[in-house]
Amino acid sequence: VTDVVRVGVLGCGNVGGALVALVAEQADAIEARTGLRLEIAAVAVRNLSRERDVELSEGVLTRDSAAVVADPDVDIVVEVIGGIEPARELILAALAAGKPVVTANKELLANVGTEVFAAAATANRDLLFEAAVAGGIPIVRVLRESLRGEPIRRVMGIVNGTTNYILTKMSEEGADYGAALGEAQRLGYAERDPTADVEGFDAAAKAAIIAAIAFGARVVAGDVYHEGISRITPDDIAVARRLGYVVKLLAICERIDGPAGSNEFSVAVRVHPTMVPNDHPLANVRDSYNAVFVEGGAVGNLMFYGRGAGGRPTASAVLGDLIDAAVNLRQGTHGPMGTFTRVRMRPIDETTAEYYLPLEVVDRPGVLHAVTGAFAKHDVSIRSMEQEGHADDAQLVFITHEAREADVQATLRDLRDLEVVKRVGGLLRVVGA
Ligand SMILES: NC(=O)c1ccc[n+]([C@@H]2O[C@H](COP(=O)([O-])OP(=O)(O)OC[C@H]3O[C@@H](n4cnc5c(N)ncnc54)[C@H](OP(=O)(O)O)[C@@H]3O)[C@@H](O)[C@H]2O)c1
Repeated sequence: VTDVVRVGVLGCGNVGGALVALVAEQADAIEARTGLRLEIAAVAVRNLSRERDVELSEGVLTRDSAAVVADPDVDIVVEVIGGIEPARELILAALAAGKPVVTANKELLANVGTEVFAAAATANRDLLFEAAVAGGIPIVRVLRESLRGEPIRRVMGIVNGTTNYILTKMSEEGADYGAALGEAQRLGYAERDPTADVEGFDAAAKAAIIAAIAFGARVVAGDVYHEGISRITPDDIAVARRLGYVVKLLAICERIDGPAGSNEFSVAVRVHPTMVPNDHPLANVRDSYNAVFVEGGAVGNLMFYGRGAGGRPTASAVLGDLIDAAVNLRQGTHGPMGTFTRVRMRPIDETTAEYYLPLEVVDRPGVLHAVTGAFAKHDVSIRSMEQEGHADDAQLVFITHEAREADVQATLRDLRDLEVVKRVGGLLRVVGA
């Protein structure tokens, strides 16, 4: 007899719809490889009358998501609704009923992850979430399982396709921010309200999850410093390009070891526009593609590249989890949970980078002396300086050596007070050199 595993799917939008289609397409192949037949037993949505381009058997669709979770015929629950409530309550109810859960919900995990992970541990059931970070790119399982023995120092990711698309347009076609955003919206890469993407909230949630699993630390979205891309100008990008860099929105997760001999460490997690040297692998990640670059201690550097969003790529990651959860459930086991210890979160002020800083100055003798004096006062040493333009349009472009954020911010404050400085341009951090 066929061993059927019945799946309850909460949500049937971009991801849920694609998952239902993918299960139908792959059910035979999955059965051949695992001996288990996945069957979509119930699908919960908000609006029953909405047109759906996926085929569902009679009686599968319902508005009662709590009933799907409680249904004794449902073995595993997939949550692809999004947001914190009701997703959180539904996931907790599923685990309490002994059902493994697969979710794609970064917002939930980055905010109340501790609670749902604890519930999974108590229930001894899988809570799998490959799709919550970088959509179709398998990075969660890699960090949780393949790299469990690896002392990971840093993980840097391009984890938001919308902003990567906009920055690529600005960089390759000289488009300004507004035009590039408009194009992204026309193509469906950006939402009508693009705030979560362009201001870095989405990347910050993913960064929190990456840091938590890479370092085994408790990190929530609120711990992540984030800056978006809306103030990046075509000028910044052009200058960066001339200097041999591309501008990318990076999520950067770093582990900083404590005193030698102790097991203590702290973690710094931030999202901001970053100048990446042209020869860094992340520099070539274009358009709406995502990539995650992992710097290990023994393994060296690794990069994972692919589609970080979209219904089918994301559903592929959900399906991989679903098969794992089904196999584990039938074997009466579950995958590694990981532990999340409380560590000190380093504020952005304590992080270091090289900095790019453009200044508009008056064309007058002694200007350079005043400006470099401000850097020296805060121990920020200058690696290079170039003048762009002439006379009244003169712009000085500085790149510093590795410096501390707090010192650079203090330098900025002093520069703004200088009479010879007309305008301090947007600061960009240089990482990956
Ligand atoms: N889209 C992507 O590329 C992507 C990538 C990675 C991760 N994710 C994550 O995947 C999740 C789903 O994203 P999505 O793009 O598929 O969203 P979506 O297209 O907006 O779909 C959400 C679905 O949830 C249903 N829903 C909303 N409230 C509900 C409720 N209270 N009870 C039952 N169903 C409810 C909606 O019903 P109706 O259809 O009736 O409105 C809809 O089918 C989110 O956590 C998202 O962050 C998405």
